Amino acid sequence: MAMVLRALLAMLPLVQGGPAKLYCWSLVTPNTYEVGMLAGMASLGVGLFECNGYDIVSNVTADVLFKDFPDIANQLKDHVHTIDMDLFVNKVSGPVGTDPSSPYTNPNSPLYQGATMKHLANTPVFKEAWQKIFNLGSFQNYDFTAKLDVDAVIVPARLSGMLTNRPKVSEYFFDTLHDMYGNFLHGPIELISRLGMFAFRDARHVCFDKIDQMAYGEDFFAKQCWDMIGIKAVPTMDIRLLYDKYEWGTASQNRCDALVPDPAVFHEPQYYAVFHPYKDMASWLQCRRETGVPKMLSDAQVQSAVALATKPLTLYEQMGQVVARRRPAVVFLAGVGLVAASALLVSRKRLSARGVTQEPLVDEELE
Ligand SMILES: *[C@@H]1O[C@H](CO)[C@@H](O)[C@H](O)[C@H]1NC(C)=O
Repeated sequence: MAMVLRALLAMLPLVQGGPAKLYCWSLVTPNTYEVGMLAGMASLGVGLFECNGYDIVSNVTADVLFKDFPDIANQLKDHVHTIDMDLFVNKVSGPVGTDPSSPYTNPNSPLYQGATMKHLANTPVFKEAWQKIFNLGSFQNYDFTAKLDVDAVIVPARLSGMLTNRPKVSEYFFDTLHDMYGNFLHGPIELISRLGMFAFRDARHVCFDKIDQMAYGEDFFAKQCWDMIGIKAVPTMDIRLLYDKYEWGTASQNRCDALVPDPAVFHEPQYYAVFHPYKDMASWLQCRRETGVPKMLSDAQVQSAVALATKPLTLYEQMGQVVARRRPAVVFLAGVGLVAASALLVSRKRLSARGVTQEPLVDEELE
């Protein structure tokens, strides 16, 4: 029975007009939470690993990247490809779940004071990463290529279905309805057709010559580039590509089943292909389960993937724990510092009428 099923499944790609074939790739930074998350996903074969083809780009090989996960390192050894540079981590600051472009974000809210969106100039890293993808050339075997962030929950089967019967043209997909800078392509998923990939590959030097790589985050750069070289942008409303909690701000819904993001726009529940951000394995898998799309995951599978993803601790996390354990001492030292600083201020008669300057309430999130 299983054999018959497998034989039938193997024939699926031959069926004309069937679900679109997806090639997915992610850039992964060593010694970050991303590594454990990917290991957990790989152990269950979900997310990126449900795409028809996939690759991982990093600056170290699989055995180094997955040094704490020998089985996964072995499983993925032919799928991790290296670029020779430091991989920056993109930083966004602002209260959790808010996006400055969201219509639901009240910029006058005290929560929001002092918070600004920041980007690191990560375009040079992505330039190398795309170059690697072009050199590998696997993208040619698939209808669409998706650059994915690790904290994005993708449901490839759903996305493939959405892309069935699209015209064979050079196109990429907007994934955002609100952006105060007019960039409707956000980084969690950057989806582009095969002909779009050929156009990008062949004309990318135009972009890298003409667009300032340091001025924008990589998603803004990609949009400007793809527009410049004539790849057609598919409007956000055409497919339900991305539900991003950052975009919806305080109105965001922390679930991954059918959603009505905005009753003024949508009159029926919408089924999205990608949900973002889910930065720990448990909530990522919870989201994946909520979509209701097979493959169905048992509680035992979820538990084992969560255990895998969070163990062993990375050096970074161990350092975090040391700080947490020494918190009383840290607080005490900070208190001493504060008293000393106040004394200094008073002695210099500099205590201003404005009172104490407060650190803005900012929650830094790794994107
Ligand atoms: C890889 O990138 C990280 C993050 O920028 C950096 O800390 C590390 O040194 C890099 N490793 C190599 C081998 O280039």
